[in-house]
Amino acid sequence: MQELRRIAITGASSGLGAALAKALAQPGVSLHLCARRVKGLEEVAGACRASGAEVQTSSIDLRNPSAGPAWIEAIAAGGPIDLLILNAGIFAGRSEKGVMEPLDAIPGLIATNLTSPLLCATAAVPAMRARGRGHVVLISSLSAVSPSPDSPGYSAAKAGLSAYGKALADDLAGTGVLVHVVEPGHILSHHTDQQIGAVPLAITPEAAADHILRGVKRGAARIAFPLLPRLYVRLTDLLPRPIRLLLNRSQRFTVRNDPDPLSGE
Ligand SMILES: NC(=O)c1ccc[n+]([C@@H]2O[C@H](COP(=O)([O-])OP(=O)(O)OC[C@H]3O[C@@H](n4cnc5c(N)ncnc54)[C@H](OP(=O)(O)O)[C@@H]3O)[C@@H](O)[C@H]2O)c1
Repeated sequence: MQELRRIAITGASSGLGAALAKALAQPGVSLHLCARRVKGLEEVAGACRASGAEVQTSSIDLRNPSAGPAWIEAIAAGGPIDLLILNAGIFAGRSEKGVMEPLDAIPGLIATNLTSPLLCATAAVPAMRARGRGHVVLISSLSAVSPSPDSPGYSAAKAGLSAYGKALADDLAGTGVLVHVVEPGHILSHHTDQQIGAVPLAITPEAAADHILRGVKRGAARIAFPLLPRLYVRLTDLLPRPIRLLLNRSQRFTVRNDPDPLSGE
């Protein structure tokens, strides 16, 4: 694996992004972390500094199309990015009384989960390509492979992100830049706290971070986990639709949608 000294992670104030930052923190590593919540970012930064890493935090809202590219440019001005983890994401779905995802959730879902990682990758990749090295990690979801009828907009954003990652990986083949599309099952975080219903085989953010970093180390283009949900998704996809719908009935859920996804302090 390429040496990972300068690392940038979006959505590092909680959950998976925080676990990835802590797992990567060590002396000689410079971490650039962003999210909206200053308090969460500073808590994570403190833990990473205690492990010996240098840490810079930026409170930005990635729904603003210029925020991600400007953040990337500011990091790149200080030196090349070895590992870019585009992890920030929000979750929304059918509420208990609703029939679909709320109308006002859709623009934020697409802006955060799809447009923002595409903009950040587009800003970062040319320098990586010119340098002939670098890793881009896109945190998608198993919902990209098996779209959920209870969170169709979220699933669509993640399917778009997975498609983008596969296309980018092929474009960069042979350049020395590696793209890793990550498709996790349930991870215990604010995201699963919002979900009312079964979250089968959910794993901790730390276990998820471990899966991802092992995948990055072996150069995997697709990192999907845990094994059982991954196999379930693959097998049920082969079944006739009525049987798949029947089997998936136990997976249905509703969502406590954040009233305003801009969570503030
Ligand atoms: N949990 C699961 O079951 C699961 C499964 C598959 C994939 N994923 C994906 O994993 C990623 C991490 O989610 P998580 O489970 O760790 O949930 P989480 O704890 O809610 O983390 C989401 C992170 O994204 C940041 N974020 C959200 N909107 C943002 C914005 N507009 N600008 C900047 N940062 C923003 C949040 O920080 P602020 O609120 O401070 O901005 C937070 O740090 C997401 O992409 C999610 O879709 C999660």
